[in-house]
Amino acid sequence: MATADQGGEVRAAAVERFNELMWGLATTQCLHVAATLGVADALAEGPRPVAEVAVRVGADRDALERILRALVAMGVFSQPEPGVVGLTDVGQLLVDGRSGTMRHNAIFFGTLTYRTWEDALEAARTGRPAFPERFGDPFFDYLGKHPEEAETFNRAMQGGSAARLPPLLAWGWRDVRAVVDVGGGNGAVVGALLAAHPHLRGVVFDLPNVVESARREIAAAGLADRCDTVAGSFFDEVPEGGDVYILAQILHDWHDDDAVRILVRVREAMREDAVLLVHELIVPEDDAPHPAKLIDLQMLILLGGRERTRTQWAELLRRGGFELAGVIEGRRANVIEARPAAKRGDSP
Ligand SMILES: C[S@@+](CC[C@H](N)C(=O)[O-])C[C@H]1O[C@@H](n2cnc3c(N)ncnc32)[C@H](O)[C@@H]1O
Repeated sequence: MATADQGGEVRAAAVERFNELMWGLATTQCLHVAATLGVADALAEGPRPVAEVAVRVGADRDALERILRALVAMGVFSQPEPGVVGLTDVGQLLVDGRSGTMRHNAIFFGTLTYRTWEDALEAARTGRPAFPERFGDPFFDYLGKHPEEAETFNRAMQGGSAARLPPLLAWGWRDVRAVVDVGGGNGAVVGALLAAHPHLRGVVFDLPNVVESARREIAAAGLADRCDTVAGSFFDEVPEGGDVYILAQILHDWHDDDAVRILVRVREAMREDAVLLVHELIVPEDDAPHPAKLIDLQMLILLGGRERTRTQWAELLRRGGFELAGVIEGRRANVIEARPAAKRGDSP
C-alpha cells in the first residue's frame, strides 16, 4: 500500500504530466511563430545573438527572447552562450527551402489546423468534421479558393513526404515502367521515385489548382521529360495506363464510403496485372503511443476521414475491389500493397 508521502509524489507527477499535456497549444504556437518569422532561416549559417535575430526577423526583442527561451527548453533551438541562439537538429527542420523542410507544417498547424481544432468538441458531439462549419466549405474546396493557404498545405505535405518515403522507394520498382500518383499533390512522391529509379515514367494526378504547382516543381527538378501532370477529380475518373498506382495520404482524408468510391475509380483505370500501393499509416491495436492515434483525430476534425487498423484496411480494400497482398512497414507510413480482386468492388 502507498504511504501518504508516496501518494503525494504520485499526485505531483500526475499534475506535472497533466500540465505537460495541457500546454500542447503553446508548443504548436511557438513553432508557428518561429516558422512564420523565419527565425531558423536567420540562424541557418550559424548561431547569432538574439538581439540581432530580432532585428532580422522584425520581432520585439524581449518577446522573441522569451519565445526562444521556451523553444530552447523544448530542444528546438540551442543556446551556445547566454543571449546567443543556434539550431538543434530539430530546429534545422524549420529552415525553408531545404528538402524535407517542416517549416510549412508548423505554419499550417498554427493557422488553419489550430483554428479548426477549437471545434474539436463539436466534432466529438456530432462525429462530423468541424472544418466546413467554421470555414464555409469542405477542406479541399476551401483550399481551391485560397491559393496562399493551399500553397502552405501543399508545401507541408511535401515536407512530410520526405520522412514517409523510405519504404515506398525501397519497393520493387525494377520491372515497372509507368507509375500514376493519384492525388499526388506537389509531385514530391513521384519526383523522389523518378529521381531514385531513372527508368520510371510518372503521372501526377490531382485537382487543377494543385497540378499547376506540381508541374512547376517537376520542371524545377528537371524531370519534366519523364513526368506528366493530369488535372481531374478521383471521384470522376483516374488516368489509365499505369503499371503501379499510388494513393499516398489520400484514403485517410475520407470516410469509408468516399474512400471506397476513390478505390473503385482507381480499380476501373487499372489493368488486371497492375498494382496499387497505398502509402498510409496503420493504427496499431495496442494501447501504446503512436503518431496514427493523433493524426486520426486531425482527419476526423478537418476532413471527416480516419486512420485505419490493418483489419480496417483489408475490409476497405475489399469493398473497393482489391485484395491486401502485403505490407512493408515504415516509421511514418507503410506501403500497403493491393492487387485487383477477381470480384469488382462495391458500386458506389
Ligand atoms: C493529404 S494530401 C496528399 C498529397 C500527396 N499524395 C502526399 O502524399 O504528399 C491529399 C491530396 O489529395 C488531393 N485531392 C483532394 N481531393 C481530390 C480530388 N477530388 N481529386 C484529386 N485529388 C484530390 C489534394 O489536392 C491533395 O493534394
